[in-house]
Amino acid sequence: MAIDPVLEGGTGRWQVCAGVTERKQACVKTFTGRVEGGILGTVRPAGGSDQPPSPALPAPGPYGRRVTFTDRLPWRVAMERALYGPGGFFVSGAGPAAHFRTSVHASPLFASALFRLLSQVDVALGHPARLDLMDVGAGRGELLSALAGHAGRSSLADRLRLTAVERAGRPADLPEEIDWVGSVPSGITGLLLATEWLDNVPLDVAVWAEDGWRYVLVDPTTGEESIGDEVRGDDADWLTTWWSAPAAGTRAEIGRTRDQAWADAVGRIDRGGALAVDYGHLRGDRPVDGSLTGYRGGRQVGPVPDGSCDVTAHVAMDSVASAGERVARCAYTLISQREGLRALGADGGRPPLSLAASDPAGYVRALAAASAVAELTDPAGLGGHWWLLQPVGVALGPLMAR
Ligand SMILES: C[S@@+](CC[C@H](N)C(=O)[O-])C[C@H]1O[C@@H](n2cnc3c(N)ncnc32)[C@H](O)[C@@H]1O
Repeated sequence: MAIDPVLEGGTGRWQVCAGVTERKQACVKTFTGRVEGGILGTVRPAGGSDQPPSPALPAPGPYGRRVTFTDRLPWRVAMERALYGPGGFFVSGAGPAAHFRTSVHASPLFASALFRLLSQVDVALGHPARLDLMDVGAGRGELLSALAGHAGRSSLADRLRLTAVERAGRPADLPEEIDWVGSVPSGITGLLLATEWLDNVPLDVAVWAEDGWRYVLVDPTTGEESIGDEVRGDDADWLTTWWSAPAAGTRAEIGRTRDQAWADAVGRIDRGGALAVDYGHLRGDRPVDGSLTGYRGGRQVGPVPDGSCDVTAHVAMDSVASAGERVARCAYTLISQREGLRALGADGGRPPLSLAASDPAGYVRALAAASAVAELTDPAGLGGHWWLLQPVGVALGPLMAR
């Protein structure tokens, strides 16, 4: 299919919108050309232009993003501002639980399982005088509040120090035994948790254009994208090492910032372990169109980085795992949430029917628990999330034995 859009080069830039003319303010030059190879295919001058067009971007993704060739922000900067800047999505308003459902919100059984993991870390550490439990990206402290409840009923109560690491402010109703800090402190002895943190660490996006990887830029007010500079240096190295072989139009989310964030957190542990729980992918299975998306009010929406919605992308778990392992100098375990929860004793099996006759109330409770575990372990949902366990200075492997 060939399209004949009118391309307008305002201040020397080209603007192409899937065959639709976009009239720009302060347009100084009009350029007529053809788009070859379909919508947003290669742009060829029809003659007489002294300004070559930018390399082509791929067809719009599932949200029908429109693509223009104008100056915009790198995605990493746009995400940082939208999520954590003044009035940002995560640092103002009701918090993550109001917009999407994580394992933490799905069922208290998730916290119960993690409390069992904490107890096992405590054993592996030889019951230290102070046992740290740190939750990075703590939301509004829901997971730590649940874990504080477990701890209060356990022998860990006197030794446990609970700390939420969060960019949002401390919620007013948080139990007072939970500390609230803005960055991961060093000298941790115990367990560091990070559930659905890394997918919200801002990152850059690249697209494979005719001449190699190029950054994708975004208009923070509309989500419209444009093509930017060639990807070079550490970002280019990361793509070569960690992203699948590109073809024309392949989009990639450059996970280097997540690697750094995880490595930095792991580096703050003296002894113990870190568990990251997140949705993600491995090198052999990267999403060809990338995975950038948005959530607002319980619905998936287009990723417009204007502060009105979550903007998130799946995590390159193998790359993150490798970065943490380099710091910890200790082998990691990477398994599905389904496997992790089962290893911690949450199997989701239905209670025996005989219980319904002997203990009807107990049967109903057990049935409810089984259905909650079923949601947490559903391979097509939360059970498909990755669990990355990174031990530091202590053997934790058997905890997660399959
Ligand atoms: C998707 S929410 C997850 C909340 C919670 N862990 C859960 O599983 O329900 C991600 C949270 O990570 C926080 N966050 C992102 N980057 C952070 C950082 N560098 N330090 C602390 N918190 C961060 C955000 O503010 C947000 O509350």
